[in-house]
Amino acid sequence: MPYNLLKGKKGIIFGALDEKSIAWKVALRAVEEGAQITLSNAPIALRMGKINELAAQCNAKVIPADATSLPDLEKLFTESMSILGGKLDFILHSIGMSPNVRKRVPYTDTSYENFQKTLDVSALSFHKVMQTAMKLDAINEWGSVVGLSYIAAQRAFPGYNDMADAKALLESITRSFGYEYGFKKKVRVNTISQSPTMTTAGSGVEGFDAFFHYAEKMSPLGNASADSCAEYCLTLFSDYTRMVTMQNLFHDGGFSFTGVSHQVVEEIMKK
Ligand SMILES: NC(=O)c1ccc[n+]([C@@H]2O[C@H](COP(=O)([O-])OP(=O)(O)OC[C@H]3O[C@@H](n4cnc5c(N)ncnc54)[C@H](O)[C@@H]3O)[C@@H](O)[C@H]2O)c1
Repeated sequence: MPYNLLKGKKGIIFGALDEKSIAWKVALRAVEEGAQITLSNAPIALRMGKINELAAQCNAKVIPADATSLPDLEKLFTESMSILGGKLDFILHSIGMSPNVRKRVPYTDTSYENFQKTLDVSALSFHKVMQTAMKLDAINEWGSVVGLSYIAAQRAFPGYNDMADAKALLESITRSFGYEYGFKKKVRVNTISQSPTMTTAGSGVEGFDAFFHYAEKMSPLGNASADSCAEYCLTLFSDYTRMVTMQNLFHDGGFSFTGVSHQVVEEIMKK
């Protein structure tokens, strides 16, 4: 049931590829809660994905931008403010890609060219988005910027490869930029560390099914779905979390603070 939580707020949502994408769910729920948005994704994703379907449902314009390109981002922010009729209140960065994960290049025998691409797309783009927004003074005071992370930033998950390093960098940029944006403009910056979720990016990770089922058994509340992640994002865009910034917030049904669960112990004992 909508609560008009984002009534009158304007935002940009990056990263909706298809209906499984976390950003897709966030866009639908944000509009349901009264927000006006523009949608953005990399030009290649616009050709391959279904973003125009989402745009029709959200009554939103789609503005292509490679999130690693400063000129693309500048154009996106300028056009968004003109379409939405003013400065923004929230931004969702829901972007991740690793050529090493895609091509199954082992972490210990990495391609550094790929590694740099992973860091540029999955982490530095968060800095670029905020640097561009700050330069254009595109976000209102008490606005909110949210990125999506994963617990491989803190713990080793084989198969997650260089994305683990990208997430650690993403969370560090969240603290460093959050500090600056807070003092300069009273803008909040946080990441949500989400449970494994069945999406295109998620299921591209080697052994993803095992991660998913293991996390499900280890989490007292079970895995958090993409829909519940969307709801958590809305709370961070809303006025009810104005004093939360520079945080990595676990949205994982308790996985991050569970040592071992009865279910996992019982399965091992059976064997
Ligand atoms: N699925 C999971 O298990 C999981 C868990 C924790 C965190 N996350 C994070 O959630 C975010 C969203 O991923 P998702 O699971 O919804 O998958 P997804 O594949 O639907 O979304 C990833 C998006 O990144 C976009 N993207 C890639 N390169 C880009 C570029 N250069 N410029 C702009 N956009 C680009 C893709 O086009 C795609 O829309 C990612 O940061 C991901 O790491 C996912």
